[in-house]
Amino acid sequence: MGQTVFIPRELDANEPRVAASPDTVKRLAGLGFDVTVEAGAGTASRIPDEEFAKAGAAIGKAGDVAKADVVLKVRRPGEAELKAYRPGTAVIAIMDPYGNDAGVAALASAGVTAFSMEFMPRITRAQSMDVLSSQANLAGYQAVIDAASEYDRALPMMMTAAGTVPAAKVFIMGVGVAGLQAIATARRLGAVVTATDVRPAAKEQVASLGAKFLAIEDEEFKAAETAGGYAKEMSKEYQAKQAALTAEHIAKQDIVITAALIPGRPAPKLVSAAMVASMKPGSVIVDLAVERGGNVEGAASGQVVTTANGVKIVGHLNVPGRVAASASLLYARNLFAFVETLVDKATKTLAINRDDELVKATMLTDGGQVVHPAFAGKPAMMIASSEHARPAAAKKPAAPKKPAAARKPKTSGGIA
Ligand code: NAI
Repeated sequence: MGQTVFIPRELDANEPRVAASPDTVKRLAGLGFDVTVEAGAGTASRIPDEEFAKAGAAIGKAGDVAKADVVLKVRRPGEAELKAYRPGTAVIAIMDPYGNDAGVAALASAGVTAFSMEFMPRITRAQSMDVLSSQANLAGYQAVIDAASEYDRALPMMMTAAGTVPAAKVFIMGVGVAGLQAIATARRLGAVVTATDVRPAAKEQVASLGAKFLAIEDEEFKAAETAGGYAKEMSKEYQAKQAALTAEHIAKQDIVITAALIPGRPAPKLVSAAMVASMKPGSVIVDLAVERGGNVEGAASGQVVTTANGVKIVGHLNVPGRVAASASLLYARNLFAFVETLVDKATKTLAINRDDELVKATMLTDGGQVVHPAFAGKPAMMIASSEHARPAAAKKPAAPKKPAAARKPKTSGGIA
């Protein structure tokens, strides 16, 4: 008998995703694993038990986790859940460790070897394991769909015999993976799209998607991207200039989608209550950062708030989970790609190489200890505020730099 991979049903009521698909069950079996899926694990992602069984999985019960060598999950198992886990089990999930010290400590106490998929370095070798990208991409898409369904006008311009419907104006704030997909989706629906970010690299990406870029492009902007490709927290002065620039723009928008994050920090506040109040009744704001403190003043987790002036602020939780059937398939493939690197192909057994850069970057607990450098031995306060733990690894090849002369020195203007 081979070693066992177990896929539990997620216990969080807000989590419809599952960490395996029929495709990855087949692939895991191909690596030499016996695969057990807990009954009902895929139901909310529209994968019935029979499909997992057809792919070669045994359908089991929650207690089967005790026999597992590898557990694949979407969310970090809680303390009660961990009681059934064997020490030494490799547990791979989105561990969400920042500010969750007790949860991290519980993993260590359980003796499991826990891997935090969101710490996967963004290097070429690990691109297929990048859960942040696979899920954020869908979140960006879904944010536009949610906005469109709350908006009571049409998005594309329609010239009809009965008159013309103007195109909706959509403004995307924060153009990482989610924001870029939001731009692409809003453009496909026919909206007039503008976008902002603090990283210079975003400018060309926005333009390549056919949207206009709006930002304060000063010296601080030029230095806003970290070696890892993420944004720094901007100074109070920059934030004030950014707010002044965007305030006027937001007042003219029909839909604003915010997707701005700073690794390991609360989300930057980009839309004030006054900006919300300046929008027309019927306008819609979707705050994708609501789980990290929110980009929008007045956004509420898990709620659609309608303000006094008739603006809707959408704060859905777990937005990738709103397209769970798609999200699970991609997430499952991300996990499989990582598991494949943990297996000795000759012996068909788990062989975790603790010197491998992917293992080093993602291993959170091991042998009863918290081992990740961002968390090990740090007092709780520092865990909550620590910079993102991903190493400053090479990111996606950046778009070629324009010669200095071609760069506009200041605000990209002319946006109505
Ligand atoms: P993220 O989720 O950490 O942040 C989202 C966006 O918010 C970023 O573009 C950031 O610059 C922006 N932001 C932060 N503070 C802001 C502010 N005050 N105002 C406006 N915008 C603000 O970022 P994500 O989506 O994880 O992407 C970060 C970078 O990583 C991007 O450059 C992306 O192209 C790169 N990347 C590289 C990959 C690879 O090499 N495999 C894969 C995916 C992304």
